[in-house]
This record gives sequence, structure tokens and C-alpha cells, in this order.
Amino acid sequence: MRFSISTKVFFGFVVVILTFGFSSLYNSVRTSQLGDTVVFLRREIFPLKEQFLGLDATLRVYYTDVLVNTRRPDALELVRDRLPQLQPYRTLQELVTTISAAAEGDNKSNDGLSLLEFSTAVERVRSGTSLYEKLEAESAASSRSRALLAKLPAYPTNAELFEWIAKDFAIHVNERRYDQAAERLADLRWVLQDLRRDTKDLGRNLTQMINQSSDRAEQESARALLAAIVTTSGSILVGIMVMLLTQSAIKRIRYLGEGVRRVSQGDYAGEVRVRGGDEIGVLADEFNKMAQSLRDRDQKLAVQREELLRAERLATIGKMSAQITHEIRNPLSSIGLNTELLEEELADNTGDFREARELLRSIGQEVGRLTDVTEQYLRFARMPKADLHMESLNNLVTHLGQFVQEDLNQRHINLIIRLEPIPDTLFDANQIRQALINLIRNAAEAMPKGGAVELTTGQRPEFVWVQVRDWGEGIPDEQRERIFDPFFSTKINGTGLGLALVQQIITEHRGNIVCEAAPGGGTVFRLELPKD
Ligand SMILES: Nc1ncnc2c1ncn2[C@@H]1O[C@H](COP(=O)(O)OP(=O)(O)OP(=O)(O)O)[C@@H](O)[C@H]1O
Ligand SMILES: [Mg+2]
Repeated sequence: MRFSISTKVFFGFVVVILTFGFSSLYNSVRTSQLGDTVVFLRREIFPLKEQFLGLDATLRVYYTDVLVNTRRPDALELVRDRLPQLQPYRTLQELVTTISAAAEGDNKSNDGLSLLEFSTAVERVRSGTSLYEKLEAESAASSRSRALLAKLPAYPTNAELFEWIAKDFAIHVNERRYDQAAERLADLRWVLQDLRRDTKDLGRNLTQMINQSSDRAEQESARALLAAIVTTSGSILVGIMVMLLTQSAIKRIRYLGEGVRRVSQGDYAGEVRVRGGDEIGVLADEFNKMAQSLRDRDQKLAVQREELLRAERLATIGKMSAQITHEIRNPLSSIGLNTELLEEELADNTGDFREARELLRSIGQEVGRLTDVTEQYLRFARMPKADLHMESLNNLVTHLGQFVQEDLNQRHINLIIRLEPIPDTLFDANQIRQALINLIRNAAEAMPKGGAVELTTGQRPEFVWVQVRDWGEGIPDEQRERIFDPFFSTKINGTGLGLALVQQIITEHRGNIVCEAAPGGGTVFRLELPKD
């Protein structure tokens, strides 16, 4: 399936926006998890740690200061009075409640799980029977253990054991049995020492938990950073892809623009190569079709132009026939008149033929003129199609110079030739020669008292040129437009077909003819021939 450019750009932007959205969401979830861990540490675990430290401190105080191993009655009574304040197992029970509540409040995270384990461990210290089992194990070796075991109720938990010893101690002190009281005091010290060890272990566990949590928080933050980097780079990548896509579309539009420019400059040959089924591809196809139809139209126009030229020539020939009749009538009547006079002259037969010779010369002149007119007419009417060959215009001008030199000399006209190196060009040498002869003849006729004619060649990027310059009377502005019209002439014996023929030849060659007033007087005719 092919998508249009706008759809592609739209999808590109949707992907960029979604990627940014997901990346922001992911990062904020990560950051909030990190925050949860930190909050959990601060709210739940640090206070617990404080409490454990507090419990340990209390136990230490009792162990060293209060439960001094003494048998002095006042000291024993003092201990009895302060002992009820020490409720280590109740403190542990309270801790279990707090930890369970904290673990439930955070039952989703891993910390909740280890907190539950921790609370079980604390509970085990309180309601386990480890002290009783220790007593049983020691009973074989220790008489104190045996004595205590004998008095204890069956399988007391650690807390119950502590309660029983504390109570028994108080009874002995109250009944002033200080020796037995001292024994219980030693038992109490034994229990508290054990409890302190347990409490320290639990405290260590807690520290470990804190370390784990903060380690995890660190990992979490590193992961959040990585996620931010990955998602941001992903978004940038997608952005670059969208940019490349847009650029490729713009590049194809530029190609298309170049094609349009070529066609607007008249070059319909090459087609625009822009592939793809999107808008630009379709536009390029349409454009190529348009260029093709322009090509076809051009060819059709060329054919029509040919036909038009032919029709024009036929029309001109028609017009010429009338003109020719008119042109021929005068010399013919003049010849007829002269022939009659000649007849009379010969009938007189005086032997003086001066008059007769004069008449014959004038007849000859008229006949000559008739020949000229008919030749010009035939040249114009029968002009064949140009027979193009690659030729050197300079060579042609050089040879032509030699050909007209004699005639110009007689008319007291200097011939100047200035040639520039120019490439060979396609032209019909006979026709161009004919055109140049006509131009040189006109130039010479414009300078009846003599002067100079200059032939020059040169080139421009698209054409080579040859020009004929004279220093004659020049052409008045109002006549300049008409000089190429057939039969336009300002000369008594001119047919007015010379320049019309030149123009026809140049048109056949797809070239131009330019007529300008020369600087410093005279006229310039320039023929331009296309290079290809
Ligand atoms: N070099 C020139 N200087 C001044 N006028 C010119 C020049 N060339 C042509 N003309 C003018 O253009 C007219 C038309 O020239 P064109 O060669 O067609 O006919 P023509 O010279 O009059 O007759 P033909 O060529 O048959 O002798 C001329 O009669 C003349 O007035
Ligand atoms: Mg002429």
C-alpha cells in the first residue's frame, strides 16, 4: 500500500509524539518507584532501626547497671522495684505489630516481603522456646540449669520464661530469701544476655535491609537515567527519519521544478524521472504527459509552418505573375516600337545605319532586362529546399570575395574581408552564396560613386554570422520594414526580389536576417545561422 506524503509526515509525527509520551510516562513511573523506595526507607525502616537501637540500649543498661550480680538485700530490692519497668518482650511484641502494619502498607514491593520475614524473625525471638531448649541442652553439664528446669512450667516460650523468672525473683525478695533471689537474678542475666544477642542480630538484619533498599534505589535511578537516554535517542532517531522523509520529498519536488524550468525554456526532450505513487510521482507523470503533448504540438506546428511557407510562396508567385506581366509589357512595347522604327529606317535605305544601330542597342538592352527579370523570377519561384552540409562559412566568404573582386574594382569599390575563426555549420553553400551576392550587389548599388564593402564573420553561443557592410546612403526608417517585401524597390530597374529571396533562404536555414543602420553611415546586413 502506498501512502501520500502528508500521511507519511503525519504518521512520522504521531510516532515521535507517542515515543516522547511513552518515554516521559516510563521515566515518571521509574522516578515515582524510586521515590516510593526512598519514602519507604525514611518512613518505615529508619524509625524501626531507631527502635531497635533503643531496645538494645535499654537492655545494655539493665544488664550492666541494674542486674548487678550482687547478693546485697538493698540492691536486690532496688532491682525488684525497677524490674517491672523492663518489659523487653512486650516491646518486641509492639515492634511486631508496627512491622506487620508497615509490611502490609507496602505489600506490593519486595521490601514488604522482607519486612514480613523480619517480623516473623522478631516474633520467633518472643514466642519461640529457644531459651527452654538451651536449658535442657545445658542441664547435663550445669546444675543451675537443672535447678531452674526443675521449677519451670512445661515448655514455656521465651517471654513466659522471662516473666516466670522475674516473678519468682520478686517473690524471693519479698520473702527475704536473698540467696534464692540472687540465683534468679543470675538466671535473669542469662536470659537478658541471650536476648541482647538476638536483638543485635535483628538490628544487623535491619541494617542489611536498609542497605539493600538503598542499593535498589541506586539501581533504580541508574535504570531511569538509561531509560531516559534510550527513549530520548529513540525519539531523536524517529525525528531524523521524519526529517529525511521530508527532505526526500523536497528533493523530488526540486527535480520536478528543474524539469518544469527546462520545458519553460523550450526543451521538451528529456522527461522528469521522479518515481513513486505519491502526489509528487503523479504530478511528475502528468508533467511528462504534458511535455509529450507539447513535443507533439511542436512537431505539428513545424509541419504547419512548412505548409504555410509553401502557401505563402504560391501566393507570392501569383502576385508575381501580375507584376511580371506588367514588367514585361513595357520592354515588349518598347521593343515593338523600336522594331517598327528600325523597319522604317531600313526602308529609307540611305546607307547611314547609325540610327539603326542605336535602335538595335536599345532593343538589346530591353531584352537583357527581360532576361534579368525572368531569371530573378525563376530563382524565387523555383527555389529548391536547402541542401544542408557541414561547411566552413569562412571558406565560402573567401571564395566569394575573389569572385566579386573584379566587378567591385570596376565600380571603384574596395573589398575588405575580416574573418574570425568559427566552427563549421550546416548550410546550403549555393543558397548562402546567392544570398551574399544579392547583399553585396545591393551594397554596391547604394554607392554609385564608389566606396567600400566589408565582409565580416564571427560567432555567438548559438549561431555563426556573416555580415555585409557598406558606406552608402543608408535606408530611411520608414522603408526599413518594407525592404524584404517582394517587389519593393526604390531602383528604376530593380525587381525588388533580391532581399525577399535572401530572407527566404535564411528562413529555410532556420536562421535570422538583421538589417541595421551602420554607425558612421551606411547599412549593415547580418545573416545568422544556427550552430546545430
Ligand atoms: N545596402 C543598401 N543600402 C540602401 N538601400 C538598400 C540596400 N539594400 C537594399 N536596399 C533597399 O531595399 C530595396 C529592396 O532591395 P532588393 O534587393 O530586394 O531589391 P532591388 O535591389 O531594389 O532590386 P533587385 O535586387 O532586383 O535589383 C532596394 O530597392 C533599396 O531601396
Ligand atoms: Mg537588390
